Amino acid sequence: MSDVVLSNYTELANAKPAEVKKFRVGIIGTGGIAHPHLENYLKMPDVEIVCGADLVPGKAKAFFEEFKLDGVRCYTDYKKMIDNENLDAVSICTYNCTHKECTIYALEHGVNVLLEKPFTVTLEEAVEICKVEKATGKILSIGFQPRFDPDMQMIKKIVESGELGKIYYIQTGGGRRRGIPCSNSKTTFIEKDTAGIGALGDIGCYSLDMVLNALGYPKPLTVTGYVSDYFGKDPETIGEYCASKFGVDDFGAGFIRLEGGIILDFRISWAINIDTPGDTLILGTKGGLRIPSTNCWNGTVGGPMKIYKQTAGNSTETVIPLAPRNPGHNNFYCKVRSFLDAIKTGGPAPVPSSQIIINQAIIDGIKKSSDIGEEIKIEIPEI
Ligand SMILES: NC(=O)c1ccc[n+]([C@@H]2O[C@H](COP(=O)([O-])OP(=O)(O)OC[C@H]3O[C@@H](n4cnc5c(N)ncnc54)[C@H](O)[C@@H]3O)[C@@H](O)[C@H]2O)c1
Repeated sequence: MSDVVLSNYTELANAKPAEVKKFRVGIIGTGGIAHPHLENYLKMPDVEIVCGADLVPGKAKAFFEEFKLDGVRCYTDYKKMIDNENLDAVSICTYNCTHKECTIYALEHGVNVLLEKPFTVTLEEAVEICKVEKATGKILSIGFQPRFDPDMQMIKKIVESGELGKIYYIQTGGGRRRGIPCSNSKTTFIEKDTAGIGALGDIGCYSLDMVLNALGYPKPLTVTGYVSDYFGKDPETIGEYCASKFGVDDFGAGFIRLEGGIILDFRISWAINIDTPGDTLILGTKGGLRIPSTNCWNGTVGGPMKIYKQTAGNSTETVIPLAPRNPGHNNFYCKVRSFLDAIKTGGPAPVPSSQIIINQAIIDGIKKSSDIGEEIKIEIPEI
């Protein structure tokens, strides 16, 4: 991933309008995360935002008005929008439970898709999408903007450099002490019918991606999983109304065997009674890497990383300073830009489903293993 080269920002910004072929883009779901999608599309001269759809009448219109955009056609039915608008691309920013239907409809109608994370709710849904993606040959990229964070990319570079030797054990996860994403006016993250999964899918997918991407996405073999909902169901923690709506997990953990003799020890929380579920540790035969956790998982690393080694019989520690930021290239801009560039070049997708299906299989395995109270095999069908 660190080798994805984006279209030149300055050239794009300076291009004469007549020379620019514009992507016709639509947005499905105009809630919270649609905002940074639109903000970043609007920075790109080769994008024309032609339409948007939201189930809630008037919501898409109000959304585009916030950005003072005129002439953007608004729909409540995303299928009608896709049928009418001859789009090149859509951002799918709907809640998790509708990711599958919206993505499949768009791909089958010739539209390239930037799909928000988590990929889906279950592995079976992810498999269905991947089959349609393969059959249609359209670009599908999954919305993991931390992939473009320079510190995240450094983790991958360190692992790939061989500095740590053979990796045999990883502890990862993190999350929040108190941070269940719900309010009396927004419960789409905590309801079974809209979110489908809780902390596990919402922020767990990022932690898994951080380490699995660094390792080249080894296949998972087995998982012993656990999920709980003690805080989400507790009115004292989140209030009567939210507790009555809570239908997902607020904590998840898994012990996963990966191919190549690697153990992945994972935990994630929206709410726990401890300051942090822990830093990420990547242990290898020649060195260990510590990646400090953040208070609230936000797709960055929580401070300078450290490599621990034995050098000439002494224990040594090397601090990896945090990387400088590039203001023109925030992570979200890069996520959107790399998707459009992949359409231009014919691919591959910057965050491909062939990797994220593995992420989804682990999340799905944790939930299924927890439900039956036993270790299970993870089997990802051939696409
Ligand atoms: N990448 C990130 O940093 C990030 C951050 C927050 C959320 N997300 C993801 O984005 C997705 C949406 O999150 P959000 O915070 O915007 O939620 P939200 O509830 O604020 O917005 C979702 C919108 O989708 C609409 N919608 C749902 N199904 C639809 C359908 N079939 N057709 C048209 N509209 C539909 C809803 O009416 C709602 O307005 C979730 O999957 C979430 O995990 C990603």
